[in-house]
Amino acid sequence: MHLSQLDILQVRNLQDVRICCHAGANVIYGSNGSGKTSLLEAIYLLGRGRSFKHRDLRVVVNNHADELVVSARIERHRSNSSHQLGVKRTAQGRFEARLDGKPLQSAVQLVEELPLQLIDAHSFTLLEGGPLQRRQFLDWGVFHVEHGYTVLWRRFQKALKQRNQLLRHGRMDAESLRAWTAELIPLSEQITSYRKQYLVELTQQAIAVAGRFGGLGVLELEYYQGWDHQRSLEEVMKTDEARDIATAKTNHGAHKADIRIKVDGVAAAERLSRGQIKLLVYALKLAQGMHYQEKVGQSCLFLLDDLPAELDYEHRGQVVSCLNGLGCQYFMTGVDKKDFEELVVGIAHQMFHMEHGVASVG
Ligand SMILES: Nc1ncnc2c1ncn2[C@@H]1O[C@H](COP(=O)(O)OP(=O)(O)OP(=O)(O)O)[C@@H](O)[C@H]1O
Ligand SMILES: [Mg+2]
Repeated sequence: MHLSQLDILQVRNLQDVRICCHAGANVIYGSNGSGKTSLLEAIYLLGRGRSFKHRDLRVVVNNHADELVVSARIERHRSNSSHQLGVKRTAQGRFEARLDGKPLQSAVQLVEELPLQLIDAHSFTLLEGGPLQRRQFLDWGVFHVEHGYTVLWRRFQKALKQRNQLLRHGRMDAESLRAWTAELIPLSEQITSYRKQYLVELTQQAIAVAGRFGGLGVLELEYYQGWDHQRSLEEVMKTDEARDIATAKTNHGAHKADIRIKVDGVAAAERLSRGQIKLLVYALKLAQGMHYQEKVGQSCLFLLDDLPAELDYEHRGQVVSCLNGLGCQYFMTGVDKKDFEELVVGIAHQMFHMEHGVASVG
């Protein structure tokens, strides 16, 4: 799968940009503030229905405009078909998405249509941030390979919300609380089982990629399921019911899960240098892309914001060679053209020069 043409209207300083994308490597270079990250933000918006920089899309709409539009021609290699995907944030604040002119009902459909991975200046939070980032990372993978996962996830969220609402409610209705606990337990267990299975498969890929990068040490990914693994969730929730009531929240379950990422037996965030952390994030996301490709039979798209930052020349080359090996489409940005010139020798690519929100080939 790849984008053959991308149209961006009124996304930050990109007022009207059209580029014909390369099916493989796309390099976007230009000075600070020229609009490189905004171009990636536009693609991300198309694939996720939200920005990776701001929750509020009002900030993303160009200052002089009321609405933004991003659309792209998607070429599907598997089905040998071509589709038009588009999103719009209207002046009234509505978010609309369309595939071949037909409205899409939710952002989940966008994610299915345009699977993408982003690595930017904040990606170190995958290692250094809270568990939410790692759960989201894990769930991206499970969502794409397990068809029933979205429904399961929604049912779980609903049951959790109901149980927490009840816990926050002053007068405790013990019967209702137990009913929601009973609903929640099997959902938590199913989510856990999908995630565990996925993590086992992903770990093998991640070890292989990290090994290619070299110098990262022995990688381990350990799943913490959100409750004591030696006890059943039923038992844990029964024992801790009083604590749930006292704290007015559900303290155990799949929503508390985490991945413990270690190198040489030590938490990766404590052991690795900044550049190595970035490299490990690349290894994890590339592994996810590989796993996705193996399971789904198509490639996902990679957005690499400021690839040269923090990575030495050799490691940049290894990242690019991995992406090339995957045969996926990728967009990488950086300030200096010369940082990319040697990197893409022998690799089919397209370079774009970004200047004051205008992208030109070259
Ligand atoms: N809503 C908006 N309307 C117009 N311009 C905006 C808006 N939001 C941000 N900008 C401007 O868009 C420009 C492009 O920002 P962007 O982050 O894409 O730059 P960049 O090329 O990635 O720069 P850097 O090399 O520093 O990362 C900035 O000058 C920013 O001030
Ligand atoms: Mg930028």
